[in-house]
Amino acid sequence: MHRLFVAIRPPEPIRDLLIDAMDDSPEFRWQDDEQLHLTLRFVGEVERPVAEDLADALGRVRAPRFDLRIKGVGRFDQRNSGALWAGVEPKDPLVALAAKVERICLSVGLEPERRAFHPHITLARWKGYRSREAEDFVARHRAFASEPFAVDAFALFESNLSRHGAHYEEVASYPLG
Ligand code: 2AM
Repeated sequence: MHRLFVAIRPPEPIRDLLIDAMDDSPEFRWQDDEQLHLTLRFVGEVERPVAEDLADALGRVRAPRFDLRIKGVGRFDQRNSGALWAGVEPKDPLVALAAKVERICLSVGLEPERRAFHPHITLARWKGYRSREAEDFVARHRAFASEPFAVDAFALFESNLSRHGAHYEEVASYPLG
């Protein structure tokens, strides 16, 4: 089985900025450079033929390149875990691209994504109860922002989970017009 997702990799100067915003709080498992991405569609576990169909079919996506910038930080608080993330704007070109990716996913037989799309770049994860520390991080980085950067491609990634965390490998890259 292959655990897949479709995402945008921010360029190196943006990844550097994201890494600079991280600190050494031991409460959080900070992402490293190779883990930084903006998910357009989480696919999950699929058999190899489906993975190959999806990799081919994503080549049919036609969408213009666009500019994004980092804007603000936030958190997802689940019952027993959570994540700190950097926000991005504008949302419209991302929503449009994610919708095209969704159509391709349906065309190769995947189940529809039922959850709302909240574009973000995860900076750290935690287990247990870290709401106070997370709220402090969010408060300290209210003004976090970057210059605009060009998004000229998206990619299909494979996620390999291990005891040491998730390792993400680019399977195929797709240029934007
Ligand atoms: P996250 O960063 O907010 O956790 C690979 O796991 C990527 O797919 C991550 O960026 C993750 O988002 C995203 N993703 C979306 N839905 C997911 C799910 N149900 N399980 C795991 N990852 C998911």
